[in-house]
Amino acid sequence: GWKMQDVMEEEIKVIRGMVGPQDHVICALSGGVDSTVAATLVHKAIGDRLHCVFVDNGLLRYKEQERVMETFEKDLHLPVTCVDASVQFLSELKGVTDPEKKRKIIGKEFIAIFDSFAHSLQQKYGRKPTYLVQGTLYPDVIESCPPPGSGRTHSHTIKSHHNVGGLPKDMKLKLIEPLKLLFKDEVRELGKILDVPVTFLKRHPFPGPGLAVRIPGDVTQGNALDILRQVDEIFIQAIKDAGIYDEIWQAFAVFLPVKTTGVQGDQRTHSNAVALRAVTSQDGMTADWYYFEHKFLDNVSRKICNSVRGVNRVCLDITSKPPSTIEWE
Ligand code: XMP
Repeated sequence: GWKMQDVMEEEIKVIRGMVGPQDHVICALSGGVDSTVAATLVHKAIGDRLHCVFVDNGLLRYKEQERVMETFEKDLHLPVTCVDASVQFLSELKGVTDPEKKRKIIGKEFIAIFDSFAHSLQQKYGRKPTYLVQGTLYPDVIESCPPPGSGRTHSHTIKSHHNVGGLPKDMKLKLIEPLKLLFKDEVRELGKILDVPVTFLKRHPFPGPGLAVRIPGDVTQGNALDILRQVDEIFIQAIKDAGIYDEIWQAFAVFLPVKTTGVQGDQRTHSNAVALRAVTSQDGMTADWYYFEHKFLDNVSRKICNSVRGVNRVCLDITSKPPSTIEWE
């Protein structure tokens, strides 16, 4: 048996053997399951020679920064620096409409912040950080480099799509990837042993470029981000209240950059439309759109239009992947 308690103890031994007493280790936390479990494990092994950074890129969900920082600090006692770089990201993204350009800018800004975080540690401790923790999973490994034969393998190249596009070059960081032999369900099990809250371990995946891929076109248009956060929060909360969150691979709202006519109260309105998307999937490679009950949809739609200023129309995305992708960009 591949017991998670044994895996944890073995990994801790390996990490302690690898990281010298003078070495410092850095980790970028995304707020997702994988980086959180990886960091928690490394923290258990080497304590506060681990230095985590969480970057608020201005493209996060409603109260995301507060929520994940609370988990990191109160539940997991991780040493985390929170960098609020939203102004910087959003000013770089202003007027940019091409999806790939948006991703590139976000990746580049992230590296710049990560780089300066690493340099600040170098100044503080008089030497460069030696290691970088990444929450790479086994499926990421096989996707990049199929293993010869049946056994699990160690060799791989870093997957490009889901990674933030490279690392600070002059840092020459060595990688610690404590989850690279594990599947997602095993990571969740390991997380449980490490006392990561179960609700956190069950969170839906969230893309690195955040809400930028859920606002077609310029992310800084009007109050798109603010509207999207409110709508998304109502939708997700309704899904949780209905007890169906765990059946769904990913659910989210999309801001539609189009204004349509509505009538609210006895007023005509000319406001934005939003779309709701929810899919089931095994791995995100293919996906099916999720069948909600009509009553659920009716309630959510009413609630959104009644409580989010600037929205007078709610649409449901009923496409699977393929032909669509999960995200809108
Ligand atoms: P798509 O939209 O390609 O998404 O069907 C498949 C899965 O990948 C996530 N996704 C991303 N994750 N950076 C990420 O870290 C990205 O640029 C990115 N694009 C899509 C998406 O949320 C879904 O889980």
